Amino acid sequence: QKKWVLMATAQTPTNIAVIKYWGKRDETLILTITAAIGMRPWFYPLMISVSPLIQTTFCTTTTVAVSPLFHQDRMWLNGKEMSLSGIRYQNCLREIRSRANDVEDEKKGIKIEKKDWEKLHVHIASYNNFPTAAGLASSAAGFACLVFALAKLMNVKDDEGKLSTIARQGSGSACRSLFGGFVKWITGNKEDGSDSFSVQLADEKHWDDLVIIIAVVSSRQKETSSTTGMRESVETSMFIEHRAKDVVPQRIIQMEEAITRDFPSVARLTCADSNQFHAVCLDTCPPIFYMNDTSHRIISYVEKWNRSEGTPQVAYTFDAGPNAVLIARNRNIATQLLQRLLFYFPPPLDTDLNSYVLGDASILK
Ligand code: PMV
Repeated sequence: QKKWVLMATAQTPTNIAVIKYWGKRDETLILTITAAIGMRPWFYPLMISVSPLIQTTFCTTTTVAVSPLFHQDRMWLNGKEMSLSGIRYQNCLREIRSRANDVEDEKKGIKIEKKDWEKLHVHIASYNNFPTAAGLASSAAGFACLVFALAKLMNVKDDEGKLSTIARQGSGSACRSLFGGFVKWITGNKEDGSDSFSVQLADEKHWDDLVIIIAVVSSRQKETSSTTGMRESVETSMFIEHRAKDVVPQRIIQMEEAITRDFPSVARLTCADSNQFHAVCLDTCPPIFYMNDTSHRIISYVEKWNRSEGTPQVAYTFDAGPNAVLIARNRNIATQLLQRLLFYFPPPLDTDLNSYVLGDASILK
């Protein structure tokens, strides 16, 4: 047998929901009960963790490889092998394989025909440079990156919108992560989910002075997965129906208007939607607590800052975890925010501050 390996690598920054998706109408196909809007500006989010102090950009990198020498599909996440037997991975792999095309690499003497993809196995190595399953949308970046890398490897011709319906079957939030900028996940109403995909509302360049800072409050894995949490909310919360029917449809329209660069409106809607999502969690039986005391302190702190300025400078939003995603209206505010965060949440004494320069222009360029 000929020895060859063909590879493709993709990198996807995480996508931050400003209007949250919470609740499925179909758990297998992952169909949402409401539309949702996420954003990924031109600059990848910065991450600072309070302890230990880390500052980095925030993304998933995935390499996929195919070879006749591989005997089964395998995957490693952050260097540790994990099972691919779950329905989400199986659905994504099946969908991509069914769309694969001929691939030829003359230099390496490789020719794979469309029909061969069913028999060939893939190896997947994925790396998150941020805490996994800690409410930082690791699955959003992960599945989007995986689907995109596999599509490149297998010469799938579908556009990002179509690929988003595949990534969606890995994780709902991944549906929004194939595009940069502001992205809307359309609810759709077909049973097969073919009309539940994402569209780009504005690209990365449209609002290129926004800066996202992620304050990592805890890197512990969340106690209630988003899948379980959503299921319990849909089954027990009285508030979720009001949110789905009366609130989110309005907010989607308002957010679409606001992303024409009206920061105060984006901030108000983002904060209100995060708070309402956590209110639904509290209204769930048993109640789900994703935020902790530090998260609440960050909210109070941002609210006070915004009020004292008379107009919002920073927006906050929290996914299924205690870590704060902070959106600063420009780089100047981002620098102030970093300084203020470190003032209110001082790093432990043994932290090497030389490796961390506050407000260093190079990180905000
Ligand atoms: O896609 P999942 O199953 O990781 O759920 C994500 C849910 C939230 O992050 C809380 C909201 C969102 O829209 O990303």
